[in-house]
Formats: sequence, structure tokens, C-alpha cells
Amino acid sequence: MIIAQISDTHIALDSPDADRRIRDFERTIADINALDPAPDAIVHTGDIVHNGRQDEYAQAVATLAKARAPVYVLGGNKDNRANLRTAFAAGGYLSRDAEFIDYAIEDYPVRLIAVDTLSTASNKGDFCPERVRRLIGMIDAETAKPIALFAHHPPFEVTVGPDRLHFETPEMMARLRQALQHSGRVVAVFSGHVHRAAAGHIGSISATVMPSIATMLRRGEYPAHMKTRPLYYVHRFDPVWGFVTETRIVGTGPSTASPCESDAA
Ligand SMILES: [Fe+2]
Repeated sequence: MIIAQISDTHIALDSPDADRRIRDFERTIADINALDPAPDAIVHTGDIVHNGRQDEYAQAVATLAKARAPVYVLGGNKDNRANLRTAFAAGGYLSRDAEFIDYAIEDYPVRLIAVDTLSTASNKGDFCPERVRRLIGMIDAETAKPIALFAHHPPFEVTVGPDRLHFETPEMMARLRQALQHSGRVVAVFSGHVHRAAAGHIGSISATVMPSIATMLRRGEYPAHMKTRPLYYVHRFDPVWGFVTETRIVGTGPSTASPCESDAA
């Protein structure tokens, strides 16, 4: 099971770097399409567009239509639930009526569960008791397979950067963390939002944050030759070892073994 994760493309049509954001997104999808072996699924962990506008979603949908693997999307704080739902309705996995954008995908050896951490009050995350109830319901709907959980806001404190807590209150984040540990079957949590690479944990569950695909919005220090190259994550699942994550630098091409890795015998 191979999942390509992308996040925080922030497609905008009238910002000074609008063209670059679109190009970052398109180059990333082209790079994912060239992966060998190909991923089983692509998950976008939110902030697909920057202003929640229909025309921005039309642009994002056009780019994602070029992806060869099935694509699943989450809402981020910059997304608009109604417009996102309409734009991605053709995928068939987003409920038309539900208040929240959350769902479980059952087509793979690892279940993919997406939760909705959006707040109407701020850019930070929220996780109300109703969302806990919905998450527990999705987790308990199947009791054999491991689960990869996707949430726009990371449910751990990211201690690098100016703001370590990405939920409105510690209690909201604690509710989500508790629900994630409820079954013992959630094996990894994948997030975006912070625009920088980070890793943490929720009990024994590993959790990561990926940088933004939009290179102008990416945080952290990068050498000059990498500043215009998007990064994304490839999560490969092994039944024994769980998820191993590779950071892909767009435009690098297929990885080749160094002399030290080759079999000298
Ligand atoms: Fe973002």
C-alpha cells in the first residue's frame, strides 16, 4: 500500500504568486504520476485553495484530474466546505448532507480515515464532541485492518515555529488524541497546515506534518537550489514495519543506488 500525500497547495487566482502555486501543484502531480511503483492513492490534506472560491476549486480539480491514482481530499482552514464538496462530488466519497467533511475509505489493506478539524471561528483546529462521536463510529465500523488517519491540523504540539498548538484549545486537541487511541488500530496520523516538516506522536501512534506544496509558503530553511522545488511525502505501508515515509523532492527523478548501497559481492 503506497500513499502519496500532498498538502497546502493554496491555489489562488489573484495573488502575485498565483502562477507559481499552480505550477508547484502541477509539477507535484506529474512527479507522483512518474513514481514506480505507482501509489495506490493520493491524499490531499487540505488548504487546497486559498480563499474557498469556486474558480479556485475549478483550477485545483483540473490539476488533480491529471493524477493517475485515485485522489481523496480533506478540508483545511482556507477551504470552504460547501464549495469543496461540490467541486469534488464526482469522487463519490464525500457525503452531500453531512455537516463535516469526514469519511472512511475501505478499498485498501489500510483503511483511510479523514477527519474534519475546521473551525468557523479561526484558522486553528477544532474537534467538538460530535466529531469525536463520528470518528469513533468510523473507527469501530471495521475491526481487523490498520488505519491511517488524515487530519489537516496536527494533533500534537509542533515545537518548532512560533506557535506550537494548532488547535484552538488544548482540550480540543486532547479529545482528538484520545479518540485516536481508542481502538489501537490507528497506526499513523498524517497532517498539513503548519507548512513545515515535523514529526511527533500520539501515544504509540506516529504522526507527521508535511511541508506545503506551495513553495512560496513553505516554512523552514532550504538551500537555494531547493527553494522552487516542491516536496511531498510517499508513505509506504508494510504489514510488519508499518508506515515508512519518504520525502520526495519534485524533479529529482528516480532514485539510484549509491556505490555503497550496491552489492559489491
Ligand atoms: Fe495552509
